[in-house]
Amino acid sequence: LGPDRAAEIRALIRDVPDYPHPPVVFRDITPLLADGRALADVVEAFARLVDADGGVDVVAGMEARGFLLGAPLATRLGVGFLPLRKAGKLPPPVERVDYDLEYGSAAIELRTGTLEAGARVLLIDDVLATGGTARAAAELVERSGGRVVALAFLLELAGLGGRDMLPGRTVEALLRVE
Ligand code: PRP
Ligand code: ADE
Repeated sequence: LGPDRAAEIRALIRDVPDYPHPPVVFRDITPLLADGRALADVVEAFARLVDADGGVDVVAGMEARGFLLGAPLATRLGVGFLPLRKAGKLPPPVERVDYDLEYGSAAIELRTGTLEAGARVLLIDDVLATGGTARAAAELVERSGGRVVALAFLLELAGLGGRDMLPGRTVEALLRVE
């Protein structure tokens, strides 16, 4: 994304103070998703990052908003999509990793045996906040035999230090706020 287009796309992310509770400023991507050109430009920008990182075998997205960006990206790249689901949604057997959120705690799961050994995986999500979700997702993919090539986000909340939770990893963000 060039700087002008990045600013336009940033303007399509709504900042909602004190949601779901103070002092969180919630970054709502719904207006961006509803804008066809913006959604296409975001998916294309992710695709360019992936190409620059040497390509992937599969895109894995974090429930739920990672699904919304990850599935169209996988289609654009011509690879499959792997949903990393919140706990309790997938039938057993599953691998599970627990983690903390900016506003709570959660667990994600991946069905055992869905990843080919050594598969090159791109992890994608809308927001990088504390990094807990991303760290858990990377651990889950690796525990299941995949190789995390990079983690890609639409928006990095830099002030929350999520990047520091992902030492030694390739972390890409299309947009960044403090
Ligand atoms: C949000 C967001 C990321 C995560 C980032 O998802 O979509 O997945 O939080 O926070 P972190 O960096 O502090 O871990 P959430 O768990 O709210 O779920 P949702 O996508 O289903 O709304
Ligand atoms: N996930 C974690 N923190 C968030 C925030 N401030 N806005 C949107 N999604 C989030």
